[in-house]
Parts: sequence; structure tokens; C-alpha cells
Amino acid sequence: MGLEFRLKNGALHHITMIHTPMFFARTPSTFLDKFLALTKDAATGKADPSKLAAFMKQHPDNAAQFHFLETNNPPASYANCPFYGIHTFRFVDHAGKTTNVRWRFVPEDGEKWLTDAQLAQAPREFLEAAFRDRVKQGPVRWEMIVTIGEPGDSENDPTVLWPAGRREIKAGTLTLTSFAPDQASGAYKINFDPMQMADGIEPTDDPVLRFRSPSYAISHSRRQTEVSEPEASGQR
Ligand code: HEM
Repeated sequence: MGLEFRLKNGALHHITMIHTPMFFARTPSTFLDKFLALTKDAATGKADPSKLAAFMKQHPDNAAQFHFLETNNPPASYANCPFYGIHTFRFVDHAGKTTNVRWRFVPEDGEKWLTDAQLAQAPREFLEAAFRDRVKQGPVRWEMIVTIGEPGDSENDPTVLWPAGRREIKAGTLTLTSFAPDQASGAYKINFDPMQMADGIEPTDDPVLRFRSPSYAISHSRRQTEVSEPEASGQR
């Protein structure tokens, strides 16, 4: 989930989230190695299982998310999906005091995961279709829960969860009232750089968080020029 908050003073704040509680890479090199391991062979059209096995052995930081995905099917709809901010961020008060936080968005419709039988029959893009149908029935909501970190809680490792029982705050409600494809909504033009933060929220030194900014900039500029160009030239 990508969110862009547009503040009254013109500032922007971005939140990006995925549906697993933890990430699969403690460092950018794990991220790269996973994509290399999953690359499909041109001749067979399949990834080489031995490369994936070697990756798993070399990168134990991938294990927690791998286990989560092995033991949880996809959600039935985006409306039934929790979303996790993954990284630790810092809230800074007026006196400059910082508090480490993490956040997640909990669906009002409740968490619902596909059964194996449903998954086997689910068509491509079923999540988008299910969401479009759900929005027609009324607003879809998530509650934003902020968890307050304690000394010793992992700050720079997005593969490690914080222990249960931390203080939590209901920070607000996200309400979606309409659906539009990316290009029509304008979201397509946004670079959801997670380092785009409003005053009072700051990054940690998490190397994965820090690496995302330059990578999203390259992707975004290529998306604007390489994908949008035919449309743009058609308008000239
Ligand atoms: C080294 C780690 C990561 C790399 C290299 C990476 C890379 C990327 C790139 C290149 C894009 C496309 C950006 C664009 O074209 O605008 C993207 C999209 C996205 N990423 Fe990551 N990512 C990383 C980690 C994460 C993490 C930890 C999260 C969750 C907290 C995340 C959530 C997302 C989301 C939600 C989008 C879609 C944004 C949209 O709707 O346009 N990514 N990522």
C-alpha cells in the first residue's frame, strides 16, 4: 500500500507498506541476491531451484518472511489485508525528544486469507476485482496502530519483529471511498519514496530504508519516460 499525505503547509509524507509483518532482507544485498536467484532461465522459463536453495542458505535473514509466506495464503481482498510499515521510524517532539515507532494498518473488515482451494481457483488480478466490488458496497477502512519501541528493540533490521506486549496507540483511520486504476487516479505519477517525510517523523539508519530512496528514483523516472512516453507523444 502506498499513501501520500498532503499537508496544509505543502509538505508531503509517504507511507509504504506490505502485507507481511517482516521484510526478507536485512541489507540491500539480500534483496538483490533474491531477485537474481528468482530470475527465470530463458530456455526453460523457470527459476533454477538450486539457485534459490543457495540463496536461502546464504541469507538466513530471508527465513522469517519465507516461513510467513509458506504458512499464510494471500488475503481474500485488499479490504481483508493488514499492512505493515516494516521499518522503525522516529517521532520527534517539539523539544527534540525522539521515540522509536513502527506502524501497521488493521482492516475493519477483519483479516481473511484464502483457503488452498480458493487460491487454486483464484484468477489473475483477483485482488483488484475483489476490491473494486467491495468499494461499491461502501467505504473500506483500516485503523492505523502505532507501536512504541522500548530500549533494545531492533531499530535497523526490518526482518526482526519487536516482542509482543509493546504499548500501542490508535493513531487514525484510513477510509477509502472510491476505486480507480493507477493511471486514471494519478497515483501512477507519484514516486512513493519512503524517505519523503513531514516534520516530526524521521528515518532510522536501517540500511534497507536508506537504500530504497535512490532505487525508487530510478524506477520512477524510468516509469515516467519509458512507459508513459507513447501516451505523451500521442498528445503532442
Ligand atoms: C532494498 C529494499 C527495497 C527495494 C530495492 C525496493 C524497490 C522498489 C521499487 C524500485 C519500487 C517501484 C517504485 C516506483 O516505480 O515508483 C518499489 C515499490 C514499492 N515498494 Fe519497495 N523496495 C524495497 C523495500 C520495500 C519495503 C521494505 C517495503 C515496505 C515497507 C516496500 C514497499 C513498496 C511498495 C508499497 C511499493 C509500491 C509503491 C507504489 O504503489 O507505487 N518496499 N519498491
